[in-house]
Amino acid sequence: MAEDVVRIFDTTMRDGEQAARINLNTGEKVQIAHALERLNVDIIEAGFPASSKGDFDAVASVAAEVRTPIVAGLARTRESDITAAGEALRGAARARIHTFIATSPIHMEYKLKLSPDGVLKEVENGVKLARSITPDVEFSAEDASRSDMDFLIEVFSLAIESGATTCNIPDTVGYAMPHEFEKFCAAVIAGVNKPGVIWSVHCHNDLGLAVANSLAAVRAGARQVECTINGLGERAGNASMEETVMSLRTRKDHFGADTAIDTRKFFATSKLVSSLTGVPVQPNKAIVGINAFAHEAGIHQHGMLCNRATYEIMTPESVGAPGTDLHLGKHSGRHAFNERVEQLGYRLSAEQGMSAFEYFKELCDKKKDVSDGDIEAFLLDRVLHLTPEGCYELKDYAVTVGSGGKPTASVTLAHDGLETTEAAYGNGPVDAAYKAILKILPFSPELAEFRIRATSEFADALGEAHVILRYKEIKAQGRGASTDIIEATVRAYVEAVNRLYSVAAAREMAI
Ligand code: KIV
Ligand code: ZN
Repeated sequence: MAEDVVRIFDTTMRDGEQAARINLNTGEKVQIAHALERLNVDIIEAGFPASSKGDFDAVASVAAEVRTPIVAGLARTRESDITAAGEALRGAARARIHTFIATSPIHMEYKLKLSPDGVLKEVENGVKLARSITPDVEFSAEDASRSDMDFLIEVFSLAIESGATTCNIPDTVGYAMPHEFEKFCAAVIAGVNKPGVIWSVHCHNDLGLAVANSLAAVRAGARQVECTINGLGERAGNASMEETVMSLRTRKDHFGADTAIDTRKFFATSKLVSSLTGVPVQPNKAIVGINAFAHEAGIHQHGMLCNRATYEIMTPESVGAPGTDLHLGKHSGRHAFNERVEQLGYRLSAEQGMSAFEYFKELCDKKKDVSDGDIEAFLLDRVLHLTPEGCYELKDYAVTVGSGGKPTASVTLAHDGLETTEAAYGNGPVDAAYKAILKILPFSPELAEFRIRATSEFADALGEAHVILRYKEIKAQGRGASTDIIEATVRAYVEAVNRLYSVAAAREMAI
């Protein structure tokens, strides 16, 4: 049987970013876009241009940088959204406008306050306008799985007549069951009966069934799956790309379909997305969790030694899972270092490459082995400069701790060419340093999340801090890395403050 191709539509930077805690800036989105291009995804949904200036700029930058995949921008059916998407995608080698409107009774009545006829009018106008801007138009019927079948068939038929080339059936609230969703998709596809259109699915994971439902839709004839790296997305997330793709690859015999994804890049891409979003991957996550290929039980280990296929249905190499974390050291040359950076999924300019190598050499003087985690941490904190040009810059800090008195910290920050130093007591050195910073700032953000981890298992590992600050309704994350753990936490805090400023500026909010 000839294999069908299932297109992979990545929405990590749109639906994934929508997930409450995540805020990616343009530089971060461009890094992720390059990693997705190397992974060979077919379509990258880079954002929702009408939603904010930040999103518009990010879509425009991704469109300008990425050459092979199609770049999509999301738009409601309203005119201003569609023209904004068209504008943001202007520099794309291959542009897609992805327009959507809800079709379920509950969404039409309570959210849109539109009658079914009103929705049909929106579909016709929106898709026609999008098609006048680009020949590649996707239409999504939001909450399709809770919509009336006859109405849905009418909506999709009209979308195709108006110019849609891909039609997407979302399970927006993760309500469907795989066996019924397969039947549902098959009935929609047969009811519309328009050869030439590509059918797509977009499943959410509220009941943990997003991948199962996506695969059920492939059985019904869907030839595009919308998914995200690490399953990020609204609420419980979207279908995980790595799980969907590896299911299709491992069970080609069952699906008679496969994707063009270079699965060996999954592990690095997953790590990159986790580092940039600050959302950790659970250890037992299928495909990309650190335990996904670990065999603990004696019986399993014995089986593996006799024949790996006893307990492995796919090899760790096929998804790029590292056998061992090979460390670089002071004898490693520029070539080995650059290769490692690329394997980790990062893309550096020539200038960034030089400064990364210099930093690497500096680190080699401080510690014997430099792990992948160390490299990632300093790329993010010292080389890529993914934070907006800072309002505040850390100039100096000092802490005093001991078993006797209260921990004290003094911090000096520069702002607008002016240096300010403040000191404070705290329950610990980090608390003291954060209190000193708060005395300098003209506003008081709240610490919403604080995490600290070592970049490897050795005592000389870098300390990597991750901080989320909240101010009014905005949240922003900051990362910091250093061989000195307190410095890492202070750098993370200052970065989060700077990001709060840039998110507020993008939303035209005063701080
Ligand atoms: O979940 C959903 O329905 C969506 C659409 C915009 C495709 O994200
Ligand atoms: Zn969604």
